Amino acid sequence: MASSLLKVCVRGFSSSSVVSATIKNVTVIGGGLMGSGVAQVAAQAGQKVTLVDVNEKVLDKAKASITGNLARVAKKQFKDNPAEGEKFVAGALGNLSTSTDALEAAKSADLVLEAIVEDINVKHKLFGALDQVAPQHTIFASNTSSLSIEEISKAAPNRKDRFGGLHFFNPVPVMRLLEVIRTPHTSEETYKAMMEWGKALGKVPITCRDTPGFVVNRLLVPYLAEAIRLVERGDASAKDVDIAMKLGAGYPMGPFELADYVGLDTTKFILDGWAKKFPDEPLFKPIKMLNEKVAQGKFGVKTGEGFYPYKK
Ligand code: 3HC
Repeated sequence: MASSLLKVCVRGFSSSSVVSATIKNVTVIGGGLMGSGVAQVAAQAGQKVTLVDVNEKVLDKAKASITGNLARVAKKQFKDNPAEGEKFVAGALGNLSTSTDALEAAKSADLVLEAIVEDINVKHKLFGALDQVAPQHTIFASNTSSLSIEEISKAAPNRKDRFGGLHFFNPVPVMRLLEVIRTPHTSEETYKAMMEWGKALGKVPITCRDTPGFVVNRLLVPYLAEAIRLVERGDASAKDVDIAMKLGAGYPMGPFELADYVGLDTTKFILDGWAKKFPDEPLFKPIKMLNEKVAQGKFGVKTGEGFYPYKK
């Protein structure tokens, strides 16, 4: 299993020969894990990237994490040629700049990708303001995990045909998939540009309609929820469920390791949103064990404890 995972990772890092013709300047808004991951892979692929967040502290942290992750990629990709590896890191970092001014950064962007908090009102405020200043040709996209792209796009009424979803997976530099989401209004040209951009980043893009959770989260979140329910009933321990799914189903992480990795707060947020939307669906019903962990601030890896403890 380790060797097949390694192959997957190596393929994920391979530099892409596809060049995006239409998207060359990218503004990524949100310097968290996802935003900085996207900024990294775009910069690695030779694109000019501006990473935006509200404060310099977040941007400094993002830049430090990108620098560290680029070094990991270089070590693997140029293991016999450290000088080339250093050039690769310097080249990628040279393509990356940071800013606290989203509106200014959008003025020169071919694509603005949002990876901020999962709050429709905050996203509306952002896209509404960006719509006023971004050039006519600029495509807007959201990396939302669970909100409707069409709903988000309502804040940019003049740009509905140039609006779509680009959903990346954590850790972005490693996970090869990109979900490309089109709403009923997304133009063919926009859709093609997003697909092409995904390939230029070395990702494998798939297409999905604007449905809750798209493909991966629609399957993954109920799976995580069922795993927690199984342990809540006392059918097996979290550790044994994780061993079972890794050794019996070939998953790289068990559901509890993955839930801790994705964040129990994120998992709960997605489930709660869907429970409201689909009140009759038993898969989305609230889970006491999950809710208690979140109430105790045990969000997983990021807080030092979830289903498992982690070194901070
Ligand atoms: N940047 C660059 N390289 C990284 C990295 C990063 N952020 N994270 C890991 N790597 C590299 C490591 O350097 C390592 O390379 P090496 O083999 O040369 O040492 C390789 O990836 C494997 O990493 P590790 O050895 O640290 O750990 P693992 O072998 O256990 O793999 C994993 C870690 C890639 C995270 C693997 O466990 C995995 O694929 N897990 C499943 C992740 C998953 O399902 N993600 C999707 C979550 S859902 C989501 O994101 C959607 C959202 O909307 C919620």
